[in-house]
Amino acid sequence: MTITPDTPLLTGLRAALGPELAADVVLHGPDTAPYCRDWHGDVQSGALAVLRPRDTAQVSACLRAAQALGLGVVPQGGRTGLVLGAVPDTPARQVVLSLERMTRIRSIDADDFTAEVEAGVILQTLKDTLAEAGLFFPLALGAQGSCQIGGNLSTNAGGLNVLRYGMTRDLVLGLEVVLPDGRVLDLRSRLRKDNRGLDLKQLFIGAEGTLGVITAATLKLGPLPEHTATALLALDRLEDAIALFRLARLHCCDLMSAFEFMPPLAFTLAHEAMPDLPIPMATDAPAYVLMDLAGSGLVDVADLMERFLELAMSKGLVCDGVIAQSHTQARALWQIREGMNDGQAKRGRHLRTDVSVPLSCLPDFVAQAEAAVTAAMPGAVCVSYGHVGDGNVHLNVLPAPGTDADHQIEQAKKLIYQVLARFDGSISAEHGIGRLKRADFQDALPPTQRDLLDAIKRAIDPAQIMNPNCQLSHAQGPVT
Ligand code: FAD
Ligand code: LAC
Ligand code: ZN
Repeated sequence: MTITPDTPLLTGLRAALGPELAADVVLHGPDTAPYCRDWHGDVQSGALAVLRPRDTAQVSACLRAAQALGLGVVPQGGRTGLVLGAVPDTPARQVVLSLERMTRIRSIDADDFTAEVEAGVILQTLKDTLAEAGLFFPLALGAQGSCQIGGNLSTNAGGLNVLRYGMTRDLVLGLEVVLPDGRVLDLRSRLRKDNRGLDLKQLFIGAEGTLGVITAATLKLGPLPEHTATALLALDRLEDAIALFRLARLHCCDLMSAFEFMPPLAFTLAHEAMPDLPIPMATDAPAYVLMDLAGSGLVDVADLMERFLELAMSKGLVCDGVIAQSHTQARALWQIREGMNDGQAKRGRHLRTDVSVPLSCLPDFVAQAEAAVTAAMPGAVCVSYGHVGDGNVHLNVLPAPGTDADHQIEQAKKLIYQVLARFDGSISAEHGIGRLKRADFQDALPPTQRDLLDAIKRAIDPAQIMNPNCQLSHAQGPVT
């Protein structure tokens, strides 16, 4: 269906918002295209309109109007999500609600170690602003230059520092949420301890916009780590990464903040994405680990890293390694890890997974899943990397050249999920369910859990307008 300025639902939306607000917040037509595309450019859909409110009251007005018309609302942050949660799928009766204009850092409280920020603040902007005050918000991920706090909360993002600081859920003290009927649920709080009954804010964290729109959050901060030691290490086998991680937990106290593994193909992919990136060591070892130790004040993380690596080498766990000698070198090492995503994107459509298994099972899982794919799909390339410290691996598959990419993606996914089931793993360690994994999630959902999830949805969003078809299928209310 082509949406024109006269499309009845669009004129109805303008009328429900009122002319002044409609003129300010509504985008329609070709301007909506970038808001209806996923990060990889695999999917381009459309929407009746894009709404871009400037404050909480305007979000409230948008949701009231959408509810009155029975329109689906797809909340949207920085559009870096990898499971199509922010991409509308029913253009004629869905609007995108973008938080991109709600970018105020409302307050920073150095004594409480908290900040209250609006949902549209870009993660990197927040981290840079806090750093000027000697403060730190630990969430760190490759998309931090584009993703927004509201998106991070709604996906309960993980990233590189989870092993030390936890998931986004662990970094939130309070929330401001607009409910589907337009009411504002004010759960903002600077309290670190508060056991007054159920913790309602947790319902909205990781909900992927299916229960309401997060408009602001009170975040838990820490002191800015002044010193970081970064090392890239070559290992003889992936199993050694687990032994090395255990050793680091024992000997580096709580100062380890990242521990990622990569295959040798990482260097090729990073080079394809960033041809000028320096590669500091031989790239033919079976596995690589990138680790950070970070601390402040009197803590000497550089010395700790050196002594730790001596120990690891004496135990035969590390066969080669480099320690970054400057911040620039450390950045370059991390760009190898980050460049993997861009390098895979450049190779075209591919399977991306985001699975977790118990930490100790990670090498066996990777070996078995890669073997299953390689045996059944000649020419397909497995790319396994990720957050060893969290038992979270991105086991991606690049289809064999000249084959039907969609078919290969589906086949590889089935093979990997079959192996995952043997390890009692999760199909979504950090990216969420969105629309991409809905069928797999829904099909495996035990009835009691499904009943509870349906009951929560009915209680908070009885008209079923929030992010229809995201996470679970629910019947959307009739268009009026
Ligand atoms: P969007 O993509 O815009 O939206 C994501 C979901 O949240 C959608 O369901 C949307 O409807 C909902 N939503 C957004 N804002 C709101 C709001 N204010 N209220 C209610 N619902 C809302 N993820 C990780 O966990 N760890 C990683 O290491 C990681 N690395 C990445 C690296 C790259 C290069 C890329 C492209 C992505 C990566 N991601 C990672 C995925 C992604 O960055 C995260 O999921 C991020 O948290 C999404 O934020 P966003 O603002 O882009 O949200
Ligand atoms: C990462 C994303 C893909 O870890 O989650 O790079
Ligand atoms: Zn990840």
